[in-house]
Amino acid sequence: MPTIAIFNPKGGVGKTMLAVNLAWAAATISKRRVLLWDLDGQGASTFILGGKGKRHDAAGAVLYRDIDPDVLIHPTSIPHLDLLPADASIRSLDAIFSEIDKDNRLRKLITGLEKHYDLIVLDCPPGLGATADQVARAADLVLAPIIPSTLSRRSFHALREFIDRHHKGQPPVYPVFNMVDRRRREHRETLDADPGCPVIPMAAVVEQMGSRQLPLGAYAPRTPTARAVEKLWHTLEKLKLDGKKILSPDGGK
Ligand SMILES: Nc1ncnc2c1ncn2[C@@H]1O[C@H](COP(=O)(O)OP(=O)(O)OP(=O)(O)O)[C@@H](O)[C@H]1O
Ligand SMILES: [Mg+2]
Repeated sequence: MPTIAIFNPKGGVGKTMLAVNLAWAAATISKRRVLLWDLDGQGASTFILGGKGKRHDAAGAVLYRDIDPDVLIHPTSIPHLDLLPADASIRSLDAIFSEIDKDNRLRKLITGLEKHYDLIVLDCPPGLGATADQVARAADLVLAPIIPSTLSRRSFHALREFIDRHHKGQPPVYPVFNMVDRRRREHRETLDADPGCPVIPMAAVVEQMGSRQLPLGAYAPRTPTARAVEKLWHTLEKLKLDGKKILSPDGGK
């Protein structure tokens, strides 16, 4: 299984929601060994999954190779789902990667972890700086949550252009419509214009992930939003990957 980056330069579009729930679906429904690596110094995924760092600067120390990722990785309350937690030391992640000045640092760290996991999910911070370059080199696939609005779609096109221009179009970038409300005309029209794109509906129950400190599937698995993430996971599970190229969905064969 690949390393999937949940990434969009725009903030607040559902990267963390998708990262946590996709990781949950892979671990719980498919019993995959999953690692969620929280690369966002805000630590939202880390908080939801009840994660704790060993020391306040550990997340940065992993990137500087001062400590081994294994020291920081710990199991969560979800069977098969491990967490590499974020902390405040990676709040300026672009500056850290610029200072390290190693284009493939993230990719090499991930290569070292791959043998332990079937799937690695990266919860990425917003922005299109040095972190985006590292993520593009490390990930096999980028899933970009977008709210069906003009501004959100602009940031998605900026991401595609960035990958095309600086990374020769690899890895592939898949859009995922999130916070969809079909009562809104702009949402309906956007969805109709791109009918193949996965759709995750808006639901108030998603907000409880923070207070419950659980993925949505753990407390509301039958909601349309949880089911939409589950469906997306099953689609991803069927993708055939050759290096960083997606050949085709293999229809489960
Ligand atoms: N499908 C949804 N329905 C309802 N609320 C949602 C949905 N997806 C995300 N949210 C809410 O929207 C807010 C932003 O989501 P989230 O934190 O996942 O975005 P993000 O892209 O990770 O943000 P940031 O760029 O700050 O890391 C959160 O309060 C989250 O609970
Ligand atoms: Mg986030």
